[in-house]
Amino acid sequence: MKIGIVIYSKSGNTLLVAEALAKNLISLGHLASLEKLTAVDKKQIDVKKIVLESAPKLDGYDVVILGSPVHGFSLSPVMQAYLLQTSELAGKRVKGFVTQHFPYPWMGGSRALGQMMTACKAKGAHGENTGIVNWSSKHRDQRIQEVIEKLSAI
Ligand SMILES: Cc1cc2nc3c(=O)[nH]c(=O)nc-3n(C[C@H](O)[C@H](O)[C@H](O)COP(=O)(O)O)c2cc1C
Repeated sequence: MKIGIVIYSKSGNTLLVAEALAKNLISLGHLASLEKLTAVDKKQIDVKKIVLESAPKLDGYDVVILGSPVHGFSLSPVMQAYLLQTSELAGKRVKGFVTQHFPYPWMGGSRALGQMMTACKAKGAHGENTGIVNWSSKHRDQRIQEVIEKLSAI
């Protein structure tokens, strides 16, 4: 299958998971491409004012996997802005993951993933709530592996 991994990553954690995911998907025989979202003004946090430098085209993908950090107990503003602006998600099968610093999902991760899935459904996508990586957890590596396995079960 053709799989588009669309992520925002400020400090590299989400990117690290996405790169390992892409590798795993390719080893399973899929065509996986990694697309990174960037904002023109890196300091802008007002979702409605964020201008994206690139808006990935999703029409060639069978499945889209979204990845984002948690910012302020919410989905990162850049990913929120992308989900608000895109018109490419209608009818798509979408899976998602978030990375967060704190060790427990209730410290922003669950809320952020919920926001991601709600935004996907509002755009007509079939969202599948998939996983949270808690960066400061002592089980982080195991968790990354579990999330990658769930995201790769396509
Ligand atoms: C502005 C900002 C706000 C953050 N808010 C939270 C938060 O509410 N909860 C949390 O667990 N981590 C929070 N973090 C930490 C990031 O979610 C975490 O380090 C994430 O893995 C970073 O991903 P990235 O390296 O792909 O940007 C925040 C980080 C930043 C920069």
